[in-house]
Amino acid sequence: MKRPILGIETSCDETGVAVYDLATGLRAHALYSQIALHAQYGGVVPELASRDHVRKLLPLVRQTLAEAGIGVRDLGGVAYTAGPGLVGALLVGAGVGRALAWALEVPAIGVHHMEGHLLAPLLEDADLKPPFVALLVSGGHTQLIAVRAIGDYELLGETLDDAAGEAFDKTAKLMGLPYPGGPHLAALAERGTPGRFTFSRPMTDRPGLDFSFSGLKTQVLLAWQKSDQSDVTRADIARGFEDAIVDTLASKCERALEAAGMDSLIVAGGVGANLRLRAKLQSLTQRRGGRVSFPRPAFCTDNGAMIAHAGALRLAAGLYDGASVDVRPRWDMAVLPPLGGKTGIRNRK
Ligand code: KG4
Ligand code: ZN
Repeated sequence: MKRPILGIETSCDETGVAVYDLATGLRAHALYSQIALHAQYGGVVPELASRDHVRKLLPLVRQTLAEAGIGVRDLGGVAYTAGPGLVGALLVGAGVGRALAWALEVPAIGVHHMEGHLLAPLLEDADLKPPFVALLVSGGHTQLIAVRAIGDYELLGETLDDAAGEAFDKTAKLMGLPYPGGPHLAALAERGTPGRFTFSRPMTDRPGLDFSFSGLKTQVLLAWQKSDQSDVTRADIARGFEDAIVDTLASKCERALEAAGMDSLIVAGGVGANLRLRAKLQSLTQRRGGRVSFPRPAFCTDNGAMIAHAGALRLAAGLYDGASVDVRPRWDMAVLPPLGGKTGIRNRK
């Protein structure tokens, strides 16, 4: 299937649309962020997110098709995020995606959001092939996964409480930074002095590949409350917090590579845009004689390109979905069928 695939992402607070085909790669993509809408509430308001997806999705689809220089009739399939995510937001993308596919008589592919993230490094790195260890670090997930083949995922470890992105967001919020805190906190950390504040590297002092980040924000809260709360102190605390998260993620990545007996690491999800994490993992993998691959920062955070790409790969393997509009707000990636064996139509009911 070399015809272009339309990809639709609406799982949270970003409407993303893209056109991708396996022969030429990414042909167009567009993103509308709802950050300004939710910022006044300090976090995502699910009902407002759904309504804004309804307003923005079709105009974005038209714009992206025009940029790709194709019409709807040229599409060979429609991929949309089927989960995990906010149920109302997911239903907007699933409803539009399924309806469009039905009208055009092409397959609809319900993509797992985290598989979209996980495969995003392959979008622009032609040499990258499994096996590799994937570090998935987003607002809702922190997972280490052994990828033996595309679609063959073994969970090695995950967070027992807050995700890394969530820890960034909550910590930023308690120091008065605007939503979404992660990128703001990271920018502030650039001006901070390393070592003035030191926070623990949770769960690195014992074996295992799980994470726990919820205690860190309490440590930051105590340090912040006891401090002079000046701009300089805020930046120094941000730097201490970022170093703690980055060191913890890097140390578990190294363990995961050893446990899986693999040399290559890929990093995906919003926190993968963090420059200090990228630099640290680069030097770690170089030291080990392996390599690390990241999507460009814009494809680390939510986007339509990763959904069109994952959908194109699944469709090429003969995997697509039935006609019912069906989303999965919670969905374990380990239950996805591998792409190796053709299973034809797969209805999730
Ligand atoms: O993957 P994503 O866009 O959405 C989810 O699927 O969750 O990830 C968003 C998360 C947010 O928690 C955000 O604060 C964090 O990624 N993030 C960052 C950076 N850019 C985004 N965290 C640290 N440093 C960054 N530069
Ligand atoms: Zn995401």
